[in-house]
Amino acid sequence: MKKLVMDLPEINDYRMVEGLNQLKTNLAFCGKDIKVITMTSSVPNEGKSSVSLSLSRTLAESGKKILMVDADLRKSVMAARYHIQGIDKGLSHYLTGQAEVEDIIYETEVEGLCITVAGPLTPDPTSILDSEQFEQFIENVRDMFDYVIIDAPPLGVVIDAVIIGKYTDGAVIVIEQGVIKRKIVQDVIKQLKRGEVRILGAVLNKVDERIGAYGNYEYKYSYSYYGESDTEKNHPNT
Ligand SMILES: Nc1ncnc2c1ncn2[C@@H]1O[C@H](COP(=O)(O)OP(=O)(O)O)[C@@H](O)[C@H]1O
Ligand SMILES: [Mg+2]
Repeated sequence: MKKLVMDLPEINDYRMVEGLNQLKTNLAFCGKDIKVITMTSSVPNEGKSSVSLSLSRTLAESGKKILMVDADLRKSVMAARYHIQGIDKGLSHYLTGQAEVEDIIYETEVEGLCITVAGPLTPDPTSILDSEQFEQFIENVRDMFDYVIIDAPPLGVVIDAVIIGKYTDGAVIVIEQGVIKRKIVQDVIKQLKRGEVRILGAVLNKVDERIGAYGNYEYKYSYSYYGESDTEKNHPNT
């Protein structure tokens, strides 16, 4: 397998470590058949890509084989943000018949952590995702990895996460604390349910714990589980 070089962000804040461990544990409790997970949110910038990467790394560091897939085909920031080098093919190459599954999976410096990047922008991301090729990709990687974490676009913007979600085992919604209105999150939940995507839970990100004299922002990840039946009545803001 080919190897890429990137700047992986450190996970050194203890709250972040704690939140990610909690998320890892909760995913394990979702059951053995939950392996391929769609990460989505309501709007951009809530932290889907950051949470997807940190979660993938945390899972890999606990000894699992992980593939993180950047499926935000419209607004991929991975390659630039983390200075990824050594890649020649991404998901969009594969979905348009220009690469095989093995050509788009890259090892990283973290043992057990592999990454698939989005690849160049294509004219119609929704229809290339809603395809037999994508389904086949998922079926292939399901057998190769313990978990596949898919970084999908926000649902308040495009429908892609529902399309991606229906080929996966469930979705986790990343919610930026204090920014997103309850109604918007409920709409996202409705969209996922309508598409018959199982909702595994929500991550409350960028939690403002202004402490100390400097008014610093501290962030943490927290994770809540919502069963199929109580997603409507519960406010995913715990
Ligand atoms: N928990 C966090 N603490 C601090 N900054 C964060 C956190 N999560 C995300 N960010 C920052 O917020 C911005 C948007 O995050 P990103 O993961 O790109 O969001 P999305 O993929 O949902 O658009 C980035 O600059 C990222 O570094
Ligand atoms: Mg993103």
